[in-house]
Amino acid sequence: MSHDHSQGADVAELFTQQTWDARYAGADRVWSGRPNRRLVEQVTDLPPGRALDIGAGEGADAVWLAGQGWDVTALDVSTVALERTARHAADAAVAARVTTLHHDLMTGEALPEGFDLVSAQYLHPPLERFAEIISILGDAVREGGLLLVVGHHPDDLATGLHSGHGHPELLFPPERVVDALDPATWDVTVADAQTREVAKDEGPVIVTDSVVLATRR
Ligand SMILES: C[S@@+](CC[C@H](N)C(=O)[O-])C[C@H]1O[C@@H](n2cnc3c(N)ncnc32)[C@H](O)[C@@H]1O
Repeated sequence: MSHDHSQGADVAELFTQQTWDARYAGADRVWSGRPNRRLVEQVTDLPPGRALDIGAGEGADAVWLAGQGWDVTALDVSTVALERTARHAADAAVAARVTTLHHDLMTGEALPEGFDLVSAQYLHPPLERFAEIISILGDAVREGGLLLVVGHHPDDLATGLHSGHGHPELLFPPERVVDALDPATWDVTVADAQTREVAKDEGPVIVTDSVVLATRR
């Protein structure tokens, strides 16, 4: 994932521990260290409970949630990322509220259940497994709990910032998430394409996020 010559690589390679351990090991910090804006927007006013952060990366979201009083399970396929998450949680004095979980979503195995919030930020499952993976995430939400899925919208292909690493079909519109949610089980309260400005050396760029929030009945 760390290089554009992954263009055309087998999509499965984009979801392995080897790929992500190498990416994280290649830099002291891959992400900004700030919580994702869409998470903050959707969660700030919620009463804290148990949260599952899917593809937690270096733990900025998990640390922020823990600081808001949530008990967080930070899940990732990369043990390098999870070690970083644990260190950042300790540095922020919220280690007691952050548990790491090494798990490969591509196994299709069930996740722990009963979470008040399951959040997936910028995880882009393979197209042919998208509905299956969203369903697995949804099964981890308790009745009355929330599923928040955020990803890069296909409009971002035009910005040149997000290419899907040679697999443009990985970028998804909100409808792809909504279509994967059984309406008998889920009330979708947000299904939007939301823009934000990103500062780049060449000037500001407008990017678009797909944001879906659903409540389990
Ligand atoms: C684009 S990063 C997003 C990280 C973080 N959510 C953020 O927004 O900064 C995607 C994350 O998903 C994780 N991931 C990729 N494939 C995975 C898999 N098969 N199972 C679990 N996590 C995976 C990666 O290790 C990475 O941390």
